[in-house]
Amino acid sequence: MQRADAQPFSTFPAAPPATGSAPGKVILLGEHGVVYGYPALACAIPRFTRVQCEWYDGPNVLVSPFLQQGAVIPLVSPSASAPAALFHFLFHHFQVPTENVRVRVDGDLPVGRGLGSSASLSVAAIRAVSAFVQRPISPEALLELGLEAEKHFHGTPSGLDHTTVVFEGVLLFQQGRPPRRIVSPAPFELVVLDSGGERQTGAMVAGVRERLKASPALIQSLLESIREDVEQAVIALESGDLNALGQRMNHNQLQLQALGVSTPRLEALVTLAREAGALGAKLSGAGGGGVVVALALTGAHRVLEAAREAGVPAFSVRVNAPAGS
Ligand code: MEV
Repeated sequence: MQRADAQPFSTFPAAPPATGSAPGKVILLGEHGVVYGYPALACAIPRFTRVQCEWYDGPNVLVSPFLQQGAVIPLVSPSASAPAALFHFLFHHFQVPTENVRVRVDGDLPVGRGLGSSASLSVAAIRAVSAFVQRPISPEALLELGLEAEKHFHGTPSGLDHTTVVFEGVLLFQQGRPPRRIVSPAPFELVVLDSGGERQTGAMVAGVRERLKASPALIQSLLESIREDVEQAVIALESGDLNALGQRMNHNQLQLQALGVSTPRLEALVTLAREAGALGAKLSGAGGGGVVVALALTGAHRVLEAAREAGVPAFSVRVNAPAGS
């Protein structure tokens, strides 16, 4: 990764504040397989991380009640905190001096739930820092730097999360290929149900890797079966067959269970959503905790109501809805 090659940026006299934001995402099908080069289908959601860089009289700091209660984290040396390490890396990349910059992070995207918060923070941070130093960044460079940045959160990201967060909409992603935008003729709603436990990306990805080593034939056949479901889900989505999409999501949940990344709590939320009328429901993201995503044609309110009655935090998003609806 090349560093920005212009003259080192000077924050004195005071540079104007700059902001960057990026959405979160859910994975409709294909998490984990995507790490091994298989395709996955993901959808950006209108929940955002916002980053602001501003001039400040002191050594560089990160201020984020959002990431860590009341935290003011120094940014002058490498840090054990992943968000601080991310900004340290970006400041080095953009040749930002070690003082006079305060970074603020906030937003409405829940953190650590499998909703792409690390990719969202990485992309929002790159947008804010590049705007602050007045070095516009191309979409290609944003993707490349975004992948490097996300490595501060887990070692081997496939690129699915930050690509979805950069391009938005519904995307078919496969490593080494340009992402393909998927448009459904039928609008639909997704309900996101929070299991209350943190998703465990690093541990879950490592667990699947170990199982692949221990039982290659079994895991390989599961990954092939996930590929088949992702491909069929794309056909279903493009033809507006949401029942078929829901069935593929349900099948994908069985595969994720067999990969060892589901939990009894996630299974309970999947059942809750299906019993409330969801066409399909599955965990979304790395698993081990995090969220369940449920597909609802128009009955999102029934799933939301069932979640509310069970005390489960949930929200819904509309996909491909006509403007103003
Ligand atoms: C995490 O949101 C999705 C995984 O497939 C990991 C990755 O794609 O980097 C589990």
